[in-house]
This record gives sequence, structure tokens and C-alpha cells, in this order.
Amino acid sequence: MSLVFVTRRLPGGDVERLRAAGHQVDVWEDAAPPSAEALASRARDADALLCTLVDTVGPTLLDACPRLRVVANYGVGYDNVDVAAANARGISVSNTPDVLTDATADLAFALLLAAARRLPQTAEDVKQGRWGTWEPGGFLGHDVAGTTLGIVGAGRIGDAVARRAAGFDMEVLRTTSRGGTPLPELLERSDYVSLHVPLTPQTRNLIDADALKRMKPNAILVNTARGGVIDTDALIEALHAGTIAGAALDVTEPEPLPADHPLLSAPNVLVVPHIGSATTRTRARMTEIAVDNVLAGLAGDPLPQAVSPR
Ligand code: GLV
Repeated sequence: MSLVFVTRRLPGGDVERLRAAGHQVDVWEDAAPPSAEALASRARDADALLCTLVDTVGPTLLDACPRLRVVANYGVGYDNVDVAAANARGISVSNTPDVLTDATADLAFALLLAAARRLPQTAEDVKQGRWGTWEPGGFLGHDVAGTTLGIVGAGRIGDAVARRAAGFDMEVLRTTSRGGTPLPELLERSDYVSLHVPLTPQTRNLIDADALKRMKPNAILVNTARGGVIDTDALIEALHAGTIAGAALDVTEPEPLPADHPLLSAPNVLVVPHIGSATTRTRARMTEIAVDNVLAGLAGDPLPQAVSPR
């Protein structure tokens, strides 16, 4: 019998399939994730770890868990896992791609639209009784249809955002690590810039002060990738200076932001709590895929969604 440590309660019923296959399953029941120490202690005898993007899986943890054969990360991003260190110890790593593509692309577009049409500010005005009457010049936002969207990243979520943009008659520019529109040109031409790159040493702070300066003053920056892709301090400065018109962020660095963080009081910023994949169906499908990978790894089979070091 193998032991699987699952670092959070997961939506859907698929964790039961681990028990049905004869494995012992230990689920971390708290709403908050385990600390690094608690994770190392609970995973110490585990053969498989089913973890989430808030768990750091690096050499220290891996060395504390000598029986581990599989790390199934619940999420498409896996910057929290040192895949090279895991592979060097004979441990396979998987993620949960595809099933969250549409949910995340939907959220990117929802953020884009909400920021463009100032939904959070205008809804708050109505709620607070500040809406006096319909005004020709009131609550003016930005057009979306017919404008230019810059998508940074070559992956499936960027593709899905591009498909949505076609429905809004947007011109789509695309920067990928292999080519497309060069990033400086994309930033200079786009009315909206949506980030869809993994967080790696190459993409950390990709959107820094220089990048922000290249953007149009009417541009809105959308991030559903990882907070570390944007230099947070530079973004705060750009929002205060009016270098760009706004930012709509599902992900931030740090995450979560403390309530008094200066990003939250910067003008024209919309921040939601990392909900890109947060639909009932998507999260259940992610559980199913993570469980499939654990079962394969424990059976000595290749992981269906194995990832390699970036
Ligand atoms: C969420 O951010 C994910 O990587 O799945």
C-alpha cells in the first residue's frame, strides 16, 4: 500500500479513486495550506504528493521525503516545483493542463472588459448612492471592439484568449519566446496587453518599468499568469503616473496582497484572488487529472501529464 499526501481538500470526488485503488490517503484538512515544516513532516513517508501551487516543492522538501515517486501539482503552472531537483531524485512531476484553458481565458477576458468599462468603480458608485442621474459624460470607459490586443505567450491559454478577441473584432498581436511580434512593438501598439507566460527566470519582471513606459497611456494590462511576471513596484508607479490606464490582475506578487499593500490603493487597479481556474467543473476536472497522474506514477507508469524542467 502506498501513501499519498494531498495538501488541500480538492473539489470533486476523484480523491476517492486513490482509496479505491488501495492507497492510503492523508488529506490536509485546514483551509490554510501547510507550512513548509508541516508539509515536510506530513509528506515524510509519502510515496506520492498531490500538492497545489502554494506549496513549495524544492530540494529541502524532496530530501525530507525519501519514498516520493510522484509529485502531482494541482494547476497548470508549476513554478512552485523544482522539477529538475525532483527528476534528479527519480521523482516524476505532473501538472493539470488543458482542462483550465477556457476558464482562465474567460477570466482574462472578464478582467479586460471589467477594467475597460470600469465595472468595479461604477458598481461601487451605484451601491454607495453616488449615482445621481444618467450623464452624457459620466462613467466613460474604453472601447474594446476594434482595438488591438497584445498577447504575451505561446500557450493554450493565449490561443483561447485570441479566439475570444476575434469575437470582439480585435486585432491580435502575439509575442512568443520563438518569435511573433517583438515585445517592445507589441507593447507600443496594443490597447490591451494580456500575459500568458509561465514564471521562469526569463519571464520574471518581464513587464518592468521600461516595458510599462512603452505601453500606450490608454492601455490596460491584464495578468492571469503569475504575479512575478510584472515588477509590482514599477506597476504601482506607472498607475500613479498615468503611464498606463489600468491593470486587471488575477495574480500578484506577493500573493495574497496584504490589505494595506500600495498596489491596492493605486488608481485604476482591479485585483481578484487568483481565480483563473475557479469554476466548479474546472476544479473537479483538475482533481481528476491530478489523481490520474498519481495513480500512474504509483503503478510505475509514465505520468500522462508529466512536465520537464523549464
Ligand atoms: C493556476 O494559476 C494554475 O497554474 O493552474
